[in-house]
Order: sequence, then structure tokens, then C-alpha cells
Amino acid sequence: MPLELHELSGDAEFPALVDGLWRGYDQPFNGFWEILKGPSKEECIARYQSWHKADPTSHWLYVTDSETNQVAGAMQWNIFETNPYINGPPSLPAYWWPEGTLKEIADQLFAGFFSGRPSRFGRPHLLISYCFTDPNYRHRGVASLAMKWGLKKCDELGLDAFVESTEDGRGFYEAHGFEVFDDFTLDASTNSPSEEFTQQKVALQLPLHGYYMKRPFVAKLSST
Ligand SMILES: CC(C)(COP(=O)(O)OP(=O)(O)OC[C@H]1O[C@@H](n2cnc3c(N)ncnc32)[C@H](O)[C@@H]1OP(=O)(O)O)[C@@H](O)C(=O)NCCC(=O)NCCS
Repeated sequence: MPLELHELSGDAEFPALVDGLWRGYDQPFNGFWEILKGPSKEECIARYQSWHKADPTSHWLYVTDSETNQVAGAMQWNIFETNPYINGPPSLPAYWWPEGTLKEIADQLFAGFFSGRPSRFGRPHLLISYCFTDPNYRHRGVASLAMKWGLKKCDELGLDAFVESTEDGRGFYEAHGFEVFDDFTLDASTNSPSEEFTQQKVALQLPLHGYYMKRPFVAKLSST
């Protein structure tokens, strides 16, 4: 099972990448991914492709099993050489869902998620925006390959790395020098919630809890 690391460079790679995303975030259940993935895989492929093309900071690294050519895992690194939050947090209405309860919940979760960034990540840095490994390939160093790509960039640029980690990702990031410095809870609320609103919250397993983690840049002393 030889593993190969690639940096995504063209539209043709998105279907396999998104296929990997759907498998990778499937276990354990991840309510945030449920609202991100949207109603269909075709729509998801087109959206992830357009987000990537519109964002010069985006670098998708993916790992294949060179015996099968299957995507075993991937990581999206954003390289922010300047503070990306000088105008406040990004706004991402969940336009891929039809108007209704799920979209209302998704909009609230995204607003809560992004509002945490400016005060914590408001300076030049690298950010891990996605990180997953297909359940059949876990604990074989897949995510570590993509992690090393980004950590090398951090060291070259002299920048800290940040991530908003799930409960499940925390141990992996700690193994790569990240430390928890804060945590967050994402939830949705409304006045007099309908039965559907309550059911959707249960289905998404809200509230979601996660950790702000940082891998500080440490300058190496020259040995001369
Ligand atoms: C977190 C995740 C990406 C790790 O991927 P992976 O390819 O299995 O990781 P690696 O094999 O490169 O792990 C390297 C080391 O990290 C640590 N590690 C990895 N997964 C871990 C976990 N779930 N808990 C604790 N430590 C973990 C271990 O020290 C591991 O070495 P080991 O396998 O010899 O014990 C994978 O478990 C996953 O996709 N989880 C679901 C999605 C998710 O939560 N992603 C994080 C979103 S922020």
C-alpha cells in the first residue's frame, strides 16, 4: 500500500477528492460536515472546485494509494501571508441548501464558527481548513504526509499554524506539535422552535464542541 502525496492542480482531480471527503468525514459522524456537504455529491464537487479556484490561499494536498489510485485522505492548507480578517470574519450563507430549517441552522453554525477567527487567528498564519483520512486507511501515516507539507511551509515562512479541531482530531494534531489554546461550542437556536428544528438539531448532534489549536513557529538556532 504505497502512499503518494499530491498537490491538487486541476479541475479533473475534484471528483476523486470530494469522493474522499464524503468517505473521510463519514466516521465518526460530524454534524458540521453534514451541513457543508450539501444535498448532492455533484453539487458538492462543483462548489469545492469553485471555492478553491476563487481562493489564492487554498492548497489541497491529497494522498493516494498508488496500487488502487484511490484517494486515501486529504488536507486543505490556507496560507495567509497577511491577516485575512482585517475586515472582520468571512460570511458564508449556506446557499447550497434550499430555504428552510436546515439552512437556518447551517447559517447560524457558520456565523458562529467564523466569528471565532479574527480575535484568535488575526495575523499572518497557515490554517488547516479540512483534514480527513478514509476510515480504511487510518493510522498508516496518510494525514501526517499532508501535515508535513504544511509544517514545512510554516517553518519556511516563519508562521504559526492554526486549526479548529474536532474532538477526534485533537490527538493527531497534538502528535504534530499543536496545542489547545481555547475551545468553542456551536449551536443553533430560535424563538419557539418547531418540531422540525428540534429534530434537525438532534440529527446534527448539536451542540458541536471543538478546540482552537496552535502549532507555534519556533526559530531554529543556527549551528555555526
Ligand atoms: C484525524 C485523522 C485525520 C488522522 O488521520 P490518520 O491518517 O489516521 O493519521 P496518521 O496515521 O498520520 O497519524 C499519525 C499519528 O497521529 C496520532 N493520531 C492519529 N489519529 C489519532 C486519533 N484519532 N486520536 C489520537 N491520536 C491520533 C497518532 O499518534 C498517530 O500515530 P499512530 O498511528 O502511530 O498512533 C483521521 O482520524 C480522521 O480522518 N478522522 C475523522 C475526521 C476528523 O476528525 N478530522 C479532523 C478534523 S479537524
